[in-house]
Amino acid sequence: MMKTIYLLNGPNLNLLGKRQPKIYGRETLEDVLRDCTALGQGLGLAVEGFQSNHEGAIIDKIHEAREKAAGIVINPGAFTHTSVAILDALNAFDGPVIEVHISNVHKRESFRHHSYVSLRAEGVIAGLGTEGYQAAIRRLATLLA
Ligand code: DQA
Repeated sequence: MMKTIYLLNGPNLNLLGKRQPKIYGRETLEDVLRDCTALGQGLGLAVEGFQSNHEGAIIDKIHEAREKAAGIVINPGAFTHTSVAILDALNAFDGPVIEVHISNVHKRESFRHHSYVSLRAEGVIAGLGTEGYQAAIRRLATLLA
């Protein structure tokens, strides 16, 4: 049976492709999910996508992952820099976690340089554009093999 991985996206990422395209590119979240689903298929992973603008909804999804997912790729958006609660939820999840940022957060405002989620993540990808999601899935495939 194929393992399932969750591809979680936080606030404002529903606007991907429309929001600040110079920073985040022109690909939509639908495009990302389509490409990641195809990549996952080839690697023997079923990719389930989820996006929410609400911290609690993301936490609920991470709790659900405890039963349903082998690994998590997460772009927590701005919650990266603020949410101890998302860190705690990820700490309650046993599988590997890869953190993705589309932009190079280290080249941006200093408040984007700190990530709570990085304290938990096996790997952190920043600045590869939306290709970073695919790199994260490849890495999860290796870690889950
Ligand atoms: C982001 C970077 C965050 O600082 C920002 O708040 C986002 C997107 C990224 O993908 O580059 O919403 O996580």
